[in-house]
Amino acid sequence: MRIPFENGLVLDFDLIKEWDDISSFNCRDEDLNDFLRTDALKNQQSRLSITWLVRWNGNLVGFCTLINDSIKTRWINPGDGEHGYRYLHYPALKIARLATRQDFERRGIGTAMLDYATAVAIKLSDEISGCRILTVDSKNDSIEFYQSFGFKLANTETIGDTVPLYKDIYGTRAE
Ligand SMILES: CC(C)(COP(=O)(O)OP(=O)(O)OC[C@H]1O[C@@H](n2cnc3c(N)ncnc32)[C@H](O)[C@@H]1OP(=O)(O)O)[C@@H](O)C(=O)NCCC(=O)NCCS
Repeated sequence: MRIPFENGLVLDFDLIKEWDDISSFNCRDEDLNDFLRTDALKNQQSRLSITWLVRWNGNLVGFCTLINDSIKTRWINPGDGEHGYRYLHYPALKIARLATRQDFERRGIGTAMLDYATAVAIKLSDEISGCRILTVDSKNDSIEFYQSFGFKLANTETIGDTVPLYKDIYGTRAE
């Protein structure tokens, strides 16, 4: 699926397949490289996550893995979420992995993948099932990246080497 983005990029998003050659992909985080090579396809086949491969001019320049999620209501800051919400969790979509190939960083590909994940959450909640919050467990180095797109720190402890962030998508429309 070819998608033109607001920042001028035109990227192809395709779900990972058995025959995809992912050997050229290398981002700055070895865990993420390892996930793509070892687990992404397997987890998709097991219905545990889906992974979108992102290509620019035929080059594999990024990937983004999405899963259904929920977030504890008490992790959301006052002012976000729904006034008077009575339940313990909000329905959510998690950006489980997101990475740009290192030699293609700072060209807007991470932004485009975030826009795409947001559009998926909006489509879900418009047409398929409730989805109010976008979540991500960020690596320390990428917290500011997510914060610059409106993600906030969740009211909870750090989980392992990642930091939970969320974004309330109420009122957000797809571009
Ligand atoms: C974080 C990451 C996805 C950013 O991807 P990218 O394609 O370089 O992002 P963009 O080019 O769209 O950058 C958008 C903006 O965020 C800024 N930015 C990028 N990486 C950043 C970071 N780590 N911290 C703070 N700001 C960052 C850019 O400077 C840019 O700002 P500008 O528009 O003012 O120039 C990429 O660096 C990466 O894959 N890192 C390793 C894996 C990782 O940490 N993934 C996320 C955690 S799960």
